[in-house]
Amino acid sequence: MPDAIFAHPRLAAIYDAFDGDRCDLTTYLNIADELGADRVLDVGCGTGCLAILLADSGRDVVAVDPAEASLEVARSKDRIGRITWVHGEVTTVPSRSVDLAVMTGNVAQVFLTDDDWAQALQGIHAALRPAGHLVFETRRPERRAWEDWAADAAQLTIEIPGSGPVEQRREVTDVSLPFVSFRYTYRFLSDGMVVTSDSTLRFRSRDEVEASLTSNGYQVQDVRDAPDRPGREFMFIAERIN
Ligand SMILES: C[S@@+](CC[C@H](N)C(=O)[O-])C[C@H]1O[C@@H](n2cnc3c(N)ncnc32)[C@H](O)[C@@H]1O
Repeated sequence: MPDAIFAHPRLAAIYDAFDGDRCDLTTYLNIADELGADRVLDVGCGTGCLAILLADSGRDVVAVDPAEASLEVARSKDRIGRITWVHGEVTTVPSRSVDLAVMTGNVAQVFLTDDDWAQALQGIHAALRPAGHLVFETRRPERRAWEDWAADAAQLTIEIPGSGPVEQRREVTDVSLPFVSFRYTYRFLSDGMVVTSDSTLRFRSRDEVEASLTSNGYQVQDVRDAPDRPGREFMFIAERIN
């Protein structure tokens, strides 16, 4: 069951506004160019920001997410229906022989158990063509991002077309490594509605991620820094090997 921040219709509608600038996505477009990928699967596509950019660049795109409210936002950006939107888990995507699968926005951290993560890697493996690539990012645990989240004056109000002014508050609710939990509270000032969203993420080490890739049929080709968040993320580039 996806978190309310993705699955609640009122929160999905304001997600992009609070997410702000998406210069992180340029890196993925550049990697798609580098790998010569024409057919791309966007896993955990959310509101579809990357899927739209990939389709704009002439690629054939399949995008999957279990949060229907986020997919609704995504579909509304794809007026001429260029993208195949799939509601569900990656294991529900039929074998598509895609050249590249991506997970942006630290989607890899939503898979909390080893089994869930292995199933996701296997589902992606089945969707990739032989020697296709999986590219994703995950926050470096040693950078301890949750300490910044807790220290931030994490309250922000923005005016959003169609929703009016909305206040967002973030609090870290638990740190039991490798798990970190946090809560967003949104107040819609136009009608007073308050919606909370609780999330837990798993912070895996580089070694842990590399081992999981190897044991699920991938060869790690490269581990890079995210140019827009230097020192904070690992970007894994893995190739399907069997
Ligand atoms: C932080 S958002 C990132 C969305 C998008 N990739 C982006 O960069 O804007 C995480 C996304 O992961 C999705 N998600 C949660 N559980 C998932 C699962 N089991 N499989 C695939 N996606 C999942 C959420 O619904 C949400 O859309």
